[in-house]
Amino acid sequence: MCGIMGFAGKSKASEILIEGLRRLEYRGYDSSGIAVSNDDIIVIKEKGKIDILEKSVNEINPQGNIGIGHTRWATHGIPDKTNAHPHTSMNGVVTLVHNGIIENYIDIKSDLIGKGYAFKSQTDTEIIAQLFDYLFDGDAISTMIKTAERLKGSYAIAMLVNGFEDKIFAMKKDSPLIIGIGENENYLASDIPAILPYTKDCYIVNDNEFIEISNNEIKVYNDCKIEKEFCVKTIDLGIETTEKDGYDSFLAKEIFEQPKAVKNTISPLIKDKKIVLPFDFPDNFVEKLNRIYIVACGSAYHVGMTAKYIIEDMVKIPVIVDIASEFRYRNPVIHKNDLCIFISQSGETADTLASLRKAKEKGAFTLSIVNAPYSTISRESDAVIYTNAGVEMAVATTKALSSQLAVIYILSAYFAKIKNLLSDNELMDFVTEIQALPEKIAKTIECNNSTRELAKYISTKEHIFFIGRGIDYPICLEGALKLKEISYIHCEGYGAGELKHGTISLIEDGTIVIALVTDKVLYEKMISNIKEVKSRGAFVIAIVNENMSDIVEIANKVIYIPDTIKSLSPSVSVIPLQLLAYHTTKEKRFDVDKPRNLAKSVTVE
Ligand code: AGP
Repeated sequence: MCGIMGFAGKSKASEILIEGLRRLEYRGYDSSGIAVSNDDIIVIKEKGKIDILEKSVNEINPQGNIGIGHTRWATHGIPDKTNAHPHTSMNGVVTLVHNGIIENYIDIKSDLIGKGYAFKSQTDTEIIAQLFDYLFDGDAISTMIKTAERLKGSYAIAMLVNGFEDKIFAMKKDSPLIIGIGENENYLASDIPAILPYTKDCYIVNDNEFIEISNNEIKVYNDCKIEKEFCVKTIDLGIETTEKDGYDSFLAKEIFEQPKAVKNTISPLIKDKKIVLPFDFPDNFVEKLNRIYIVACGSAYHVGMTAKYIIEDMVKIPVIVDIASEFRYRNPVIHKNDLCIFISQSGETADTLASLRKAKEKGAFTLSIVNAPYSTISRESDAVIYTNAGVEMAVATTKALSSQLAVIYILSAYFAKIKNLLSDNELMDFVTEIQALPEKIAKTIECNNSTRELAKYISTKEHIFFIGRGIDYPICLEGALKLKEISYIHCEGYGAGELKHGTISLIEDGTIVIALVTDKVLYEKMISNIKEVKSRGAFVIAIVNENMSDIVEIANKVIYIPDTIKSLSPSVSVIPLQLLAYHTTKEKRFDVDKPRNLAKSVTVE
């Protein structure tokens, strides 16, 4: 999704803006631009990577200590220089950048065309600039308020207003915006990594707040133009979390960081072998709990599917798992005793946020499992458990997913204990197994070399299938997503028992099938499914528990993973799949961190 950067200070704005935009590249983009305010406002924007923009900026060398910047992930209008942000209004009143989608832009655009406004771009963003221009009454804050009243949809906007050359103005609704507070310099950004090199003190802007920033002053107004107090938070993340630290990519770093990420996630939640949550459920809520919804997107959804197997097995209550973009529109039946869990690495995913708001409207207790501190989903939930994985820069999630799984294990045990389904000793044993996971994950990462070898063969293929049963099934979906989203190979994950209902027709000589086999109870069934695909020519890569040695008789290649109790096996079985995706993508010489068309945080629906 788009990235916004703003700077007001004593340094050269263009340099700070370019550096900030580079730290937002992971969000995904296809064009970028900056606007610097000096005697007038200079706009420089280019299609493509930031290196191209930087070249133009160096040639023009804009002076000035105030500016805004943007990386655009195209939604309305092709990725080109005209549609790139910043956009300047027809009369030059305002120059702005925007992250989000204005849903009523067509109506506003035709209204403004009727008033004589000419448009240059195909974007929804340009109508914001023109509308501000049309409504401008000489006061930037009151004009922002009037503009916001007309806009429908989501937005985070930073703007330079003619006549206010020493200020940046901003407002937001649904899309994230953070103010970084420095010494005689202030920053604006879509996300924390962009401001971390300069300051750890920040203010998370709320919806319907209107911001005025200069190098030494920050003012926050409400929608009645009344100035309000704001509380400064200090980010407890170091800049090292946004560096590669010697790895060739953020993805490699984050795969190898998983033992630490899981350890940092579980440590605050376990004291003396007992589970300690960072919040209290309402009185008797868990005792009376008889249904859980889990809502998420992408990999987080796969964690939700995994959670269904674990919670239903341990807590004996039904778990309904929904893709957020479906949940928000299907009018789910939610009762006040239901618990709705929202899983999100970024805490900003538009569909998950909208689903959270829908669940709250229906009176459910909402718990979010989020990695990004101070994110919108974490702030709007009744309760939040943070996965302390650190900033995740690669678009393909790995360490956050592993940390989310760890939180699910802990929550499952917590519910089971309160419902008297786990004895003290059983709880202690389960917690001990959870605490052993970082070491087991580290041991599993040792399969790195064998996955690198297999990647040479996998990278030559166009179609790959992942099969598994039980708790392995959602991890097959995750393995398929990981591989397809960065290597661009077509991958499908299937319940192994489902193959005979159609997909097996696609298996032919040399088709790669990756079989996940961790559940002893389903082992024989999986052996049958592997034999079925092998008999049709498949090349089977089996990922199995270290004690399932006889599978070597039927699979073409075997990757052994450490044994653990069934409920915790996803944390181990997912590792080889992550490594296969990483190495296959390296073989294909694609960017493992920033895959085409994708964004790290999908803040538009
Ligand atoms: C996973 O590798 C993808 N980057 C994507 O599916 C992601 O999991 C999904 O967009 C949800 O993001 P979130 O966890 O930030 O809500």
